[in-house]
Amino acid sequence: MAEQRTWGGRFEGGMDELTQEYTAGMDRDLWAHDIAGSVAHARMLGKQGIIPAADAEAIIAGLGEVLADFQAGRVTWQPELEDIHTHVESLLRAKIGAAAGRLHTARSRNDQVSLLNRMVVREACDIAAEASAALIRVICDLGEKHASDAMPGYTHVQRAQPITLGHHLLAYGEMFLRDRERFLDCRRRTNVLPLGSGALAGSPYPLDREMVARELGFEAISRNSMDATADRDFVAEFAAACAITQVHISRLSEDIVLWASAEYGFVTLPDGFATGSSIMPQKKNADVAELARGRSGRAIAELVGILTTMKGLPMAYDRDLQEDKAYILGASNVVLPTLRIFAAMLPALTFNLDRMRAASGQGFSLATDIADYLVKKGLPFREAHEIVGRLVREAESQRCELNELPFATYSALSPLFAEDVLAITVDSALADRDVPGGTAPKQVRVAAAALRAAVG
Ligand code: ARG
Repeated sequence: MAEQRTWGGRFEGGMDELTQEYTAGMDRDLWAHDIAGSVAHARMLGKQGIIPAADAEAIIAGLGEVLADFQAGRVTWQPELEDIHTHVESLLRAKIGAAAGRLHTARSRNDQVSLLNRMVVREACDIAAEASAALIRVICDLGEKHASDAMPGYTHVQRAQPITLGHHLLAYGEMFLRDRERFLDCRRRTNVLPLGSGALAGSPYPLDREMVARELGFEAISRNSMDATADRDFVAEFAAACAITQVHISRLSEDIVLWASAEYGFVTLPDGFATGSSIMPQKKNADVAELARGRSGRAIAELVGILTTMKGLPMAYDRDLQEDKAYILGASNVVLPTLRIFAAMLPALTFNLDRMRAASGQGFSLATDIADYLVKKGLPFREAHEIVGRLVREAESQRCELNELPFATYSALSPLFAEDVLAITVDSALADRDVPGGTAPKQVRVAAAALRAAVG
């Protein structure tokens, strides 16, 4: 067995099976990335005359066959071979013989694995950015559709001021746009070629690193071989982008769960995105939202995990870093399906617009607008606040809404009130918030269009 290993020379005994199992990584599925990296490396070695051109050609052709074997599911995993890098090399050797031994010239698994992970994260960033864009577009549609549909806006889960449903949904659109930008930004920093760094110190061969970078679609080459092999910032950044995205979806989920309750009654869940109870026949639960909220725990765990793995590591590569793949996969496995299902579920929700509108005018939600009314007549805001506070107390004791109080109650509190104060409505309050970024239907439409443009 020792002879199959890529580092067998200095070892006499075979590896204990427990050690094999314990040290195995999570890279089995990464054969396509590994082979692509090896092909580019071999081509460059051949072109630079570091290995004979004929061997380079044989290696590239052989890697093509190995790729085909993986694609056709013809490869059996051999635990004693440790990881995907050694598997590919060993399979190549079976195809082309001794020339396979030249592939690892001027390369270490330390720069090779960093390359692999960067390719995986780069791809995951693209997928996540696209999935966020799809979700944002759905939210833009809904934002426009509901640009003038009123609902109560809350702070502290207390009714605060009327807003539009479109405005509320577009708030999430803004969060997801920032998430998308985080993924794209992470991609940019990830997209630096580490190959050529060797184990940690660089390489004594005349490598053309730029050529490899071009072939593999990397924007730049690393400047420091130690950093390039030891760095996993890009994993932490990816996990952070995933965790923040999942936290945003978790907040949206919390809204959906509340809105779907009988107490709110704002939303009816589509059957396709809800589940029932095995005991209570009447139940229809917002399980998708609940699971998305629950899985934010997992997404956050991946971020904490990679940072913890990195925090005590001395320079340069340490085997601890092999754990990084678990975090990349774990974070993607939470966030990607979540983005997808939310893009499908949101347009399928039925918003109970009448109920939302009715609720938007309750709970003295126009109190601030009445204070603003007095301010516009010249009263300092603090005094206006005080007067309307008393008005609210009055309405509370009479168990009615503010606009149900007789005008006499208003005029008794301030001579600035005229009958038109009773004309303040939810719609006038909405239309009044006509500042950029405000909830006025006109502004909501402008914001939806701008968000759509920002997604591209
Ligand atoms: N499987 C390892 C990883 O994923 C790559 C090998 C690192 N090098 C070493 N000498 N063990 O990080």
